[in-house]
Amino acid sequence: MQSAYVLSNARLATMATPVEGLGAVVVADGAIAWVGAQGDLPDAFAQADRHDMQGRLITPAFLDCHTHLVHGGHRAREFEMRLEGASYEELARAGGGIMSTVTATRAASEDALLAQSLPRLDALLAEGVSCIELKSGYGLDRDTELTMLRVARRLGELRPVRIVTSFLGAHAVPAGTDADAYIDEICIPALRAAHAEGLVDAVDGFCENIAFTPAQIARVFTIARELGLPVKLHAEQLSHSGGTTLAARYGALSADHVEYATDTDARAMAAAGTVAVLLPGAFYAIRETQMPPVDAFRAHGVPMALATDCNPGSSPLTSLLLAMNMACTLFRLTPDEALRGVTLHAARALGLNDTGAIAPGLRADLAVWNVETPAELAYRIGFNPLYQRIFGGRLC
Ligand code: NIG
Ligand code: FE
Repeated sequence: MQSAYVLSNARLATMATPVEGLGAVVVADGAIAWVGAQGDLPDAFAQADRHDMQGRLITPAFLDCHTHLVHGGHRAREFEMRLEGASYEELARAGGGIMSTVTATRAASEDALLAQSLPRLDALLAEGVSCIELKSGYGLDRDTELTMLRVARRLGELRPVRIVTSFLGAHAVPAGTDADAYIDEICIPALRAAHAEGLVDAVDGFCENIAFTPAQIARVFTIARELGLPVKLHAEQLSHSGGTTLAARYGALSADHVEYATDTDARAMAAAGTVAVLLPGAFYAIRETQMPPVDAFRAHGVPMALATDCNPGSSPLTSLLLAMNMACTLFRLTPDEALRGVTLHAARALGLNDTGAIAPGLRADLAVWNVETPAELAYRIGFNPLYQRIFGGRLC
């Protein structure tokens, strides 16, 4: 066996078979070869290099399964306007909101977008993230949508991180454009072009009264299906618009935001295996008061993932640790649910089966923390206890 090493004397939050007391993880060839109680470490690994974790906690590395991290400019002025009384929806209807970031993103070169996005990516990595989903959706024209996705791929070449892309052409209706014409003449051709370049891992949309109807999103999802791409959806964020049932009908990986989802929606998601991605940063930043139906998700067995929704408008957040704290404080998730939400369930929301837990055969994507219990990760506010990030077995 090549390059095997042992992380010993660790507390383990595996998201798989529990390990009581101090345990060890054996990493070989970028994958987890063995995990279990310290005293049960097989003799075969006795000679391998050892890293004494001195009682630190090891979790799966985090995954941020919903971000708009690639974008041009910022919206600090809109933040001020919201403080003066304007709502997120009012700003969007007045040509601000997503459209103002579209203008800034179109004006930026590919290199400028990359340079602006890197610090946000680095902030996430510094908190033990190994995999990030990045969306297009601030181009709303073929060239800029493709540029955003190319930047996303380049970020994955510049840093030890796994990038998963989502095409979000159906994010907003460009000013002066008819929504149906936009879907047929710009969004769908851009999706085909991006897919042809290998830039698309999944297809997303924004189903909302200030964006697209379920029927319009269904046209995009039908093309996704034809291209063999999984779908996901921004659904029931500001109102109950029917996005969740549509997502479930297409077997979506996830329905995201879902504050206005109902018990019926939760049942449909459970039946379809669709993950609920909760985005407490957006809930907090736009001062939403409608809580996502967490009890219904629990009751029907809908896995709940958590993400930053990192974007310049509704969630200028680059901390999954803070998202965990917010999910517990605002949505009443337990710290265990929050941890599952940024690991196992986030992986599931991205359709990934090879990461998100600590079990033999999975990728060695791990985070080592200077804490004693998993609850400490969600409990502190604005404190980063990361000791070591491990990406595909590599100590970063
Ligand atoms: O997830 N809901 C739509 N999209 C983003 C907001 C994007 C923006 O305001 O720029 C979201 O909240
Ligand atoms: Fe979003």
